[in-house]
Amino acid sequence: MSNEEPYWLGRASVEQQRLVKQHHTWTKSIGYLVHPSIASFLPENARIADVGTGTGVWLTELAKASPSTYRFNGYDISDASFQPADSLPSNVSLSFGDFKKPIPEDLRGQFDLVNIRLIIISMGEGVWESTLRNVLTLLKPGGAIQWTEGNFFVARGFRGASSTSTGGHYLTRGQLQLNGTLVKRFGYNFPDFNKLFTDAGLQDVEEDVSSTDRLPEQRKDFTEIGLGAVFGALRNMASTKTEGYWSEKEVDGFREKAVEDMDSGAYLRWDLHVSIGFTSKWSST
Ligand SMILES: C[S@@+](CC[C@H](N)C(=O)[O-])C[C@H]1O[C@@H](n2cnc3c(N)ncnc32)[C@H](O)[C@@H]1O
Repeated sequence: MSNEEPYWLGRASVEQQRLVKQHHTWTKSIGYLVHPSIASFLPENARIADVGTGTGVWLTELAKASPSTYRFNGYDISDASFQPADSLPSNVSLSFGDFKKPIPEDLRGQFDLVNIRLIIISMGEGVWESTLRNVLTLLKPGGAIQWTEGNFFVARGFRGASSTSTGGHYLTRGQLQLNGTLVKRFGYNFPDFNKLFTDAGLQDVEEDVSSTDRLPEQRKDFTEIGLGAVFGALRNMASTKTEGYWSEKEVDGFREKAVEDMDSGAYLRWDLHVSIGFTSKWSST
């Protein structure tokens, strides 16, 4: 059932721009594209895959900062957000790939690093485990996985520092509405990454957690990105006319109030998790 869940964030150009902005904001806050424990181990001719690549922005930015001997492959179930092929660095290619289906034979065991970022909206009860096991088959023995997600279950609005700030209650309201709707639909949840990775047999597991308000100057950017995702998804879901969901009119009304919260200086805050692990050097997981 969860495998057939529609993709609620949409893929129109507004979402494409949101993904690119999101990339730069998240990367600045996290402080790296590749976790230092992985970056130092990559070989001269590293092969790197990005699964659920979206626009491919993580790969293209990494390609610019890496030796030209590295090769990068991005996979997504939809090419609707891909950057045009002629704008990509020559060592980057984007193509079709479904992380919920068995990995094609010719791609198994080929990569030194597999990156996954922000696919939580396509996960659900039991799906994290099967997706992880599936994508690990892309790795060479001793290869690394890096999986970055936001924990939106702890997301809420906060009062800003200015005396004119609201309490951010509509930011909280929208986030709670989306979380509740997704939980009911497909068991939306946030996993314990340490356990997930360790149970899958990964070694040297690490989980970096930071907060989106770590750099105060980024609070508005994160709020804008979060608000776009929350109200974009709620609007897509409203079109299903399901009982208990907000109608399009309600979504638009609450969005307006949430934007007023943001403009007053209130902000949405959540946690960013970067989890890494390595497959055994002696056999692939
Ligand atoms: C929120 S976007 C994140 C894109 C990118 N990882 C980033 O951080 O910019 C999630 C992406 O996952 C893709 N996706 C969803 N289900 C997928 C599946 N089963 N296999 C491959 N990609 C999938 C969507 O098409 C979308 O492009």
